Amino acid sequence: MSYRHVLVGTDGSETATEAVRHAATIAAATGARLTVLSVFSDPDAESLAEMQDQLPEELRWQVTGVAQAEETARAGAGVASELGADAHARVERGDASDVLLKVLEVGDFDLVVVGSRGLSSPTRFLLGNVPSAVAHAAPCDVAIIHTAD
Ligand SMILES: Nc1ncnc2c1ncn2[C@@H]1O[C@H](COP(=O)(O)OP(=O)(O)OP(=O)(O)O)[C@@H](O)[C@H]1O
Ligand SMILES: [Mg+2]
Repeated sequence: MSYRHVLVGTDGSETATEAVRHAATIAAATGARLTVLSVFSDPDAESLAEMQDQLPEELRWQVTGVAQAEETARAGAGVASELGADAHARVERGDASDVLLKVLEVGDFDLVVVGSRGLSSPTRFLLGNVPSAVAHAAPCDVAIIHTAD
């Protein structure tokens, strides 16, 4: 088994970070390039205005989802690099499941890695929306990483 280009999705959650580590270990072992993707959705205008009201003016630019997604992707790529992977951070806007599948569709990935759960972690579900959608529709190998809790 050998992979050339691996995609891992992270929302910064503990399970997603496990997925990043898993993807990095596989990528490092097979000499694959690793893309660490964080998808953000812009908050709607009303909640954005509410958040901005609570911040001093010089910090308001930070409340746009994209800044946090960039930080999450960069942190993930950092973790992956430490494990020896050729890792690159990437950020896209939209719905996480849709965007991951679109990125897989147009890219040349041969493995996608996601966690079983993410930030929302509804305990009644074993699988989040993203792994569920990716498992159903990804055009390549899929690894879903489960954490203990
Ligand atoms: N915004 C995102 N960008 C990139 N990858 C994501 C994103 N959100 C989730 N993922 C990937 O999907 C995995 C599962 O998260 P998911 O969002 O499906 O579950 P959840 O947050 O627990 O529940 P919900 O389905 O309600 O969002 C994460 O561990 C991560 O690998
Ligand atoms: Mg989620």
